[in-house]
Amino acid sequence: MHSCLAQACPIVGAVQAVTQSAGETEALGARLAAALGAGDVVTVAGELGAGKTTFVRGACRALGVEQAISSPTYTIGHRYAGAVPVAHLDLYRVRGLGAEEWGDLEPYFDGTIAFVEWPEHAGAWLPPVRASVTLAHVDESHRRVSIDSEDDLRL
Ligand SMILES: Nc1ncnc2c1ncn2[C@@H]1O[C@H](COP(=O)(O)OP(=O)(O)OP(=O)(O)O)[C@@H](O)[C@H]1O
Ligand SMILES: [Mg+2]
Repeated sequence: MHSCLAQACPIVGAVQAVTQSAGETEALGARLAAALGAGDVVTVAGELGAGKTTFVRGACRALGVEQAISSPTYTIGHRYAGAVPVAHLDLYRVRGLGAEEWGDLEPYFDGTIAFVEWPEHAGAWLPPVRASVTLAHVDESHRRVSIDSEDDLRL
């Protein structure tokens, strides 16, 4: 669970897993969700089809979101009401984010737990990140999932 080998290592909580199905990736998302609160930003990175939306779906379900969770293809984001509001952004189509575009995105982060796919497209505009998730293909049904945080999330 704790992968710090050197004292200076800034990563306190780190989880590495290989999931064997979409359901297992959703379950990891749910585990992370339990450690989150309003104001937390979670980046979810990985190539096309790696399972980013699947991970976010599991987290959103655990946070009480009942709507279908799909990649926000035609809008950049969705915001779901709930005990803690949840936002899901997909920045795949975002390029060269500037102050004006960021102004449009900022409300998604206001008081929410926000999950951001393709975070690398946000440049330096994202608020501080509570946890970063990275997914990668192993084969058709297996994915390598890493969750890193500077806090001990007790996952
Ligand atoms: N272990 C696994 N974890 C997650 N998804 C898996 C796994 N095995 C198979 N899959 C399948 O891989 C696909 C992942 O799709 P998903 O939309 O979650 O990816 P994505 O990273 O969000 O893609 P995009 O970059 O297009 O938004 C789904 O069809 C899912 O069922
Ligand atoms: Mg997606």
